[in-house]
Amino acid sequence: MSLPKAVKIVEVGPRDGLQNESASLDVATKVELVHGLADAGLQTIEAGSFVSPKWVPQMAGSDEVFKQLAPGQATYTALTPNMRGLDRAIECNVKEIAVFAAASEAFSQKNINCTIDESLEKFKAVTQKAMAHNIAVRGYISCVAGCPYQGGVDNKKINEIAQSLLDMGCYEISLGDTIGVAKPDDIEALLSDILMDITASKLAVHLHDTYGQAIANIKQSLNMGITTIDSSVAGLGGCPYAKGASGNVATEHVIHLLNELGIEHNINLNKLIEVSQFISHRLGRTPLADKGSKLNVK
Ligand code: HMG
Ligand code: MG
Repeated sequence: MSLPKAVKIVEVGPRDGLQNESASLDVATKVELVHGLADAGLQTIEAGSFVSPKWVPQMAGSDEVFKQLAPGQATYTALTPNMRGLDRAIECNVKEIAVFAAASEAFSQKNINCTIDESLEKFKAVTQKAMAHNIAVRGYISCVAGCPYQGGVDNKKINEIAQSLLDMGCYEISLGDTIGVAKPDDIEALLSDILMDITASKLAVHLHDTYGQAIANIKQSLNMGITTIDSSVAGLGGCPYAKGASGNVATEHVIHLLNELGIEHNINLNKLIEVSQFISHRLGRTPLADKGSKLNVK
């Protein structure tokens, strides 16, 4: 298959990134981060999550963040694990939410304290109510290439979960390599199985970069027709319930790849690098790239 002409990036740094950073940021900094990303051209930004603050304290201020975001510049999305999360999203006038299931029972228990089937039941009710409020729903499946607690996962099970999420009304399924263990061959095998039943336009890849394989895995996904990629500015974060998981693939690195491949993305790399430097300094992290570095050539 030939490479796609254009790709959509779902920026997950303000949620997937910040949820796993040890430094807690104030609401103003989070809002500045999201606005900076929108200004750099990111059209879909996961800006926070309405989960239990006891489980993920870093996301506790999400309500205030959403209330302060300027409407119109981008779609700001939120993670919601249950009806309580959806109600908070409705209260904040959020237009898109995401529910999140797992390919492994062990991860489902550790992450959201219920079985996969129980989670799907809850998500069905959440999705129905969301759609009644004209809120779009995205579905995640975590641990599609392996689980930190139980090891191997079954592609048939992933396919079934993806189908259930689509049937209940999710418009897209984001396949999460939560701990970054996939290699291009694994992505090829996984997508070959899933694409037998689900069209590429309903799939996204969400690849953590623990072992430096994410860019190669994205290239593999592009080769197989995937046109939506999740990424995190500055490669921030990880998952608090997946020990050892490093951040998502850095958005800057994805843009660099897309530039090299001549694939359209509508993101201003210079502005993105400025945002990356801003948030890295606020978190006390070394920035991935300085302006004028190799990332900046196109
Ligand atoms: P639980 O303890 O079973 O829930 O947690 P509960 O219903 O028994 O409630 C316990 C307490 O939490 C109660 O408060 C509730 O009110 C409160 P208390 O009475 O003790 O004071 N509560 C809430 N508060 C605010 N907002 C809510 C909410 N729900 C309950 N929505 C629960 C179940 C799902 C809530 C919990 O397990 C949870 O919040 N988990 C979220 C974990 C999480 O955010 N993980 C990271 C995101 S997933 C990820 O990173 C993977 C992804 O990136 C893809 C990939 O990489 O693979 C998406
Ligand atoms: Mg993730």
